[in-house]
Amino acid sequence: MAKIFSISNQKGGVGKTTTAVNVAAFSALNQVRTLIIDCDPQGNSTSGIGIDKNTLISTTYDVIINGISPTETILESSIPNLFIMPSNPSLAAAEIELIGAEEREFVLKKAISTIQNNFDAIIIDCPPSLGLLTINALAASEFLIIPLQCEYYALEGLGQLLDTFKLVKENLNPALEIGGVVLTMADFRTNLTQQVIEEVKNYFGEKTFKTIVPRSVKVSEAPSFGKPIILYDPSSKGSKAYREVGAEFLEKFNLKGNSKNKLQPSQTESTETISEESSHIETIAEPTEKVEG
Ligand SMILES: Nc1ncnc2c1ncn2[C@@H]1O[C@H](COP(=O)(O)OP(=O)(O)OP(=O)(O)O)[C@@H](O)[C@H]1O
Ligand SMILES: [Mg+2]
Repeated sequence: MAKIFSISNQKGGVGKTTTAVNVAAFSALNQVRTLIIDCDPQGNSTSGIGIDKNTLISTTYDVIINGISPTETILESSIPNLFIMPSNPSLAAAEIELIGAEEREFVLKKAISTIQNNFDAIIIDCPPSLGLLTINALAASEFLIIPLQCEYYALEGLGQLLDTFKLVKENLNPALEIGGVVLTMADFRTNLTQQVIEEVKNYFGEKTFKTIVPRSVKVSEAPSFGKPIILYDPSSKGSKAYREVGAEFLEKFNLKGNSKNKLQPSQTESTETISEESSHIETIAEPTEKVEG
């Protein structure tokens, strides 16, 4: 049964989607059958793994509001073992339409329960708000993962996020835990970055991922090519950092790839391709250092 993670921070642009997409891709490449649920009307994780937001037949919106079965909505990505429940701007309306829904905080949880057995990990990419979409994500999750950008205002607003976490835990989902904090977009040349890192480590202790993701132009380029950085430019520093975050993620949550056991009979034909491609990609994911001259 899949472990479920919400990647959330109501602050915009802190690296939620980048973290969701790369951790999910890394897990999938390590034979962990992984589903991304794009729970953001911006649909950035959908396009970030190369799926055209404009041609979707059904989306997270249809699952939440129209009761469409997740299995009808989930798409296979070009990365073996990586699946997505895609989203586009139509999801924005759900924030309002959910208000009148029955057990409105549990709509996503109920939908996920029908497919939880089909995956090893489900990663929900949340929108930059603490509205009903995020509440639904938290009510459905076992772990909250918080990306924090290493900058002056990093901790501003964190109290509000932690208050929401507590409210959900006390009232809707006692099983919810803080799974970890990922520090992103670090510029190690500045004292400020060092101060933020110290402060976050003091506050969150062991929950802080050891790997700190540096700011890197390559990371910001990758989404326009519809690829996670770990595949777009495997030898870049951003890629190396996200592979390390991915490895910590698998270790922390004891996720072991056994997806082959879970392939549906209809998919057995492609088993060979999957394992071939995986081993190919594993080589890409662990680039040997170039020997100069
Ligand atoms: N380590 C990094 N170095 C450089 N740019 C990055 C890095 N991580 C993310 N970015 C870029 O910063 C922007 C915001 O990142 P991302 O979309 O992951 O944040 P987000 O928290 O999901 O944003 P939103 O709140 O809008 O959903 C994107 O353009 C992304 O490509
Ligand atoms: Mg995002």
